[in-house]
Amino acid sequence: MSATTILAFESSCDETAVAIYRTDDTAEALPQRGRILADVVYSQIPLHQIYGGVVPELAARAHIQRLPLLLQEALQQAHIQLADVNVVAYTAGPGLQGALMTGAAYARSLAYALGIPALAIHHMEGHLLSPLLHSEAIQFPFLALLVSGGHTQLMAVEALGRYRLLGQTLDDAVGEAFDKTAKLLGLPYPGGAALSALAAQGNPKRFDLPRPMTQRQGLDFSFSGLKTQVRLLIEAHQESDYADIAASFQAAVVDTLLIKCRRAWKSTGYRDLVVAGGVSANHALRQQLQQEALRLRKKVYFPEPKLCGDNALMIAFAAAQRLQQAQQQDLTIPVRARWDLATL
Ligand code: KG4
Ligand code: ZN
Repeated sequence: MSATTILAFESSCDETAVAIYRTDDTAEALPQRGRILADVVYSQIPLHQIYGGVVPELAARAHIQRLPLLLQEALQQAHIQLADVNVVAYTAGPGLQGALMTGAAYARSLAYALGIPALAIHHMEGHLLSPLLHSEAIQFPFLALLVSGGHTQLMAVEALGRYRLLGQTLDDAVGEAFDKTAKLLGLPYPGGAALSALAAQGNPKRFDLPRPMTQRQGLDFSFSGLKTQVRLLIEAHQESDYADIAASFQAAVVDTLLIKCRRAWKSTGYRDLVVAGGVSANHALRQQLQQEALRLRKKVYFPEPKLCGDNALMIAFAAAQRLQQAQQQDLTIPVRARWDLATL
């Protein structure tokens, strides 16, 4: 099988992104060595900032405007023509319905016109696999902590496509908690990175905030209560205390994630933990998980900083893994004597 050139689109929220990735057919096992031919991301943040959050209709319109321009830019970066593309991949969900539709319709129409397959990719599988793009040492099975604006999940990744949910948030996602708390502190949207920068100047021990759900067994999370605690602190303090409030909030979140990861490492016995999604860019989270992994003789992996947020390279890479898996399955001859239609 010759190398495959994958053109990928991401449009699930407020980043419009196109990437081109060529698989390396000499690689035998995951992670497949490949070549990143193009990786372009257009952030719509300035467009939504004045509204304090993503406006779905504006996001969809901006995707439509930007997709053709980004495609041209990606092709130029890769020094290839559309005719050189073998497979199109796109984010099919989860995300904002209208935003997803624009990327999916664009990708599928292009694939149809070129007479090549279009692969629908799960956005969170893209995030989950993104650290494998640069770390060949990660081995199945491994743990994954997915922390983004819409998700907070701990998964047991038994194999490519075999993801067992160990725990998840019962209310706000971590990124959402960062964003909402940042808003209370008067920081611009999206607040995660801004709050983290403010926290770096504060004292994380000044305010004793709860570590939600850590007294209970299990691996579920809850972050909506923390936000209320922060609101009470803000009401009772001055603006000069905001850095300490931000630092104490961040410490509570990072501590909570740390406690649950420690539990997951223990209960599964797995060695590797992969952290992905927008919040995996958080400096305190990276530092403390790394220290904890060292202490427990475990390993923790993060995506390259550029790949923490939404991008199309992770979608192309997930598509490459899926293709490789399909090719490997083609070499086996699976039949099933008993096969329930309902399990398809
Ligand atoms: O994965 P992502 O780009 O989009 C979603 O799929 O949701 O994640 C975005 C989230 C936002 O909530 C943003 O505030 C948060 O990631 N984030 C951070 C940091 N950088 C981004 N949260 C905490 N610390 C950061 N440094
Ligand atoms: Zn995302």
